[in-house]
Amino acid sequence: MSRVGLAARALRLALNKAHADPTADYDAASSDYDTFFSPVMGLHSVEALDSVPVRPGDTVVELACGTGHLTAEIVRRLRGVGAVHAVDKSPGMLRVAREKVLPLAQDAPRLTVELAEGDMDSFIRSRPTGAADLVVVGWAICYTKPSRLLAQIERVLKPGGRVVVIETRADAHRALTERLEKIFAHDPSLLTGLIRVTLPKDAATVARWFVKAGLTVDIQREGAQSIPARTPEEAVEWVTRSGAAAGFKTAVDSGREQLVLDRLTAGLAELLAKEGRLDIRHTFVVVTGTKQADSIPARRRAADEGAPVV
Ligand SMILES: C[S@@+](CC[C@H](N)C(=O)[O-])C[C@H]1O[C@@H](n2cnc3c(N)ncnc32)[C@H](O)[C@@H]1O
Repeated sequence: MSRVGLAARALRLALNKAHADPTADYDAASSDYDTFFSPVMGLHSVEALDSVPVRPGDTVVELACGTGHLTAEIVRRLRGVGAVHAVDKSPGMLRVAREKVLPLAQDAPRLTVELAEGDMDSFIRSRPTGAADLVVVGWAICYTKPSRLLAQIERVLKPGGRVVVIETRADAHRALTERLEKIFAHDPSLLTGLIRVTLPKDAATVARWFVKAGLTVDIQREGAQSIPARTPEEAVEWVTRSGAAAGFKTAVDSGREQLVLDRLTAGLAELLAKEGRLDIRHTFVVVTGTKQADSIPARRRAADEGAPVV
C-alpha cells in the first residue's frame, strides 16, 4: 500500500476522532520511566528549572508532573515553606511520584504538596486567578492546545510570576519516525489510532504561543540529546520503555505491536549498516516567560470585573 493509502487512513481516523490517549502507555512506562527517561532527559528538565527562581514561600503549579522528577526538585528548593500543586492523568506515573515526593514533605507543616490525578486543562482552570509564583510544564504541553493552556497559565500567575516549558521538538528521533512512516505507508492497516500531539518546530514557535497568551518571553533556546543506544535493539528499547513513544500502543493495531517493533529494529539495522553508527537525537526546546503586571489579558479581566484599569 502507498503513502496515499496511509494518508487516506489517517484522514478516516481523524474524522472518526480515533485519537490515541497516551495514559495507558504512561501507566505501562511508569515503572521504567525513572530508569530510562529521567536520568537522560531529566537532566535537561532540571537545567530548565534552574533558569527560573523557586524560593521558599512560593506557590508552584506543575502540570503533568509524571513520576515527580521535577516535583521533587521543586519541593527541595522550597525548603519546607510554600506549596506545590501538581497534576497528572496517569495513575501509574502518579504512584511513583507520590512515593518519591511525599516523604520529602514529611515533618514540614508549612509546606503543602498536592499530587492530583486528572487532566491538566481542567486542573489549571480550577486554580485561582493571580495566585501562583511559578508554573512548570515538563514534556507535556504537546498533549494540550498550547495557546489555550498558556492563556490559563497567564491567568493563574501573579503579576511577575514565571512559567517554564520544556518540550520535545517535532523533528526528534527523526531516524526512528521516518522508518515508522515507511512501515505504516507499506501497510496502513497497522495504524488504528492517531497520536495527537502538538510538538513545536522550534523554540520560536513556543515563544509565539507565549506572546499570544499575553506572556513575555525571557529565554528561548533549542537543545538536543543523543539517546543512549548503540544498537537498533537498544534504540527501540529506549523509546518504548522511556515513555518517549507514548501513544504507540493505542495507535498500533493491538496484537501487531511486536511486528511493527521488529520491522523498526530491522529498518534501524539497515541504517546502522549504511552509516556505521546510530545517532538518534531527542531534540527539544526550553522557553521561560513572565506575566507582566499590566498584561493585556489581566487588563481585560480587570475591566470585565469592573475594577479600575491601570
Ligand atoms: C513525558 S511525561 C513528563 C513527566 C514529567 N513532567 C517529567 O518532566 O518527567 C508526560 C506526562 O504527561 C502526562 N499527561 C499527558 N496528557 C495529560 C493531560 N491531558 N493531563 C495531565 N497529564 C497528562 C502523562 O501522564 C505523563 O506523565
